[in-house]
Amino acid sequence: MKVVVLGATGATGRLVVAQLLDSGCQVTALVRNLSVLEAHAHLQQVKETALSMENEQLESLLADSDALVCCLGHNLTLQGVYGAPRMLVRDSLQRVASLLSVKREQPLKIALMSSTGVRNVLLKESVSSLERSINVLLRWLLPPHRDNERAAQFLQRQGSRHHALQWVMVRPDTLIDRAEVSEYSWHSSPTRSALFNAGETSRINVAHTLCQLVLDDSLWQQWQSKTPVIYNVE
Ligand SMILES: NC(=O)c1ccc[n+]([C@@H]2O[C@H](COP(=O)([O-])OP(=O)(O)OC[C@H]3O[C@@H](n4cnc5c(N)ncnc54)[C@H](OP(=O)(O)O)[C@@H]3O)[C@@H](O)[C@H]2O)c1
Repeated sequence: MKVVVLGATGATGRLVVAQLLDSGCQVTALVRNLSVLEAHAHLQQVKETALSMENEQLESLLADSDALVCCLGHNLTLQGVYGAPRMLVRDSLQRVASLLSVKREQPLKIALMSSTGVRNVLLKESVSSLERSINVLLRWLLPPHRDNERAAQFLQRQGSRHHALQWVMVRPDTLIDRAEVSEYSWHSSPTRSALFNAGETSRINVAHTLCQLVLDDSLWQQWQSKTPVIYNVE
């Protein structure tokens, strides 16, 4: 299987690349820095982003790929949070979608790493009025939160309109680092408050979820067009 990874040099993206390579995938990582990932016979690193790559080059990479895993996130610096590209995740997905050929034999599977802070509006997930007010504030104060919400809206709008892509958006809670994959639970919607009673999700479990989704077709069918929430099981 051929998989493109966006955000491959990030804390979660690196784990995704390692797990995909362990599973025998051919991985193409779009990176800004070529010295982060270890060389591997099945890993091709391209010093480009989904926003900087020439149309023709990105189009042919996507045409030759089965899946794309997106672990992009804004760097926690002033420039990363408030500078361009403010809608990094949404714009990257939009560009990918715009360059997919309608003649593809199989749709591109897009697995997106998002957050429990992003509500699934189609499921009418409810939050307390205090949480709703804080979310409104966060949306305006923190462009990365708004970006994650817009990316979700973008994918949900694709629905059945875009036959060249399918998607799953994985929502972890507070990210922690663990060395090994551990037991974790899947839910259609958050079972706890992301603001007042957050759970934990290890990055390695997020990577495991994203990789299993693209590798296991029955798991993909189960969650396609859905926004699973995953929590570590204590
Ligand atoms: N913090 C939490 O508790 C939490 C909880 C749930 C979900 N999340 C979400 O998890 C996601 C990723 O988490 P993480 O910790 O794995 O992130 P991370 O380590 O910060 O990795 C972010 C990745 O995005 C890339 N990137 C940043 N700005 C870019 C740009 N302008 N153009 C191209 N690539 C760019 C980075 O590239 P470089 O290596 O070149 O910088 C890196 O590969 C984020 O969307 C975040 O919102 C976070």
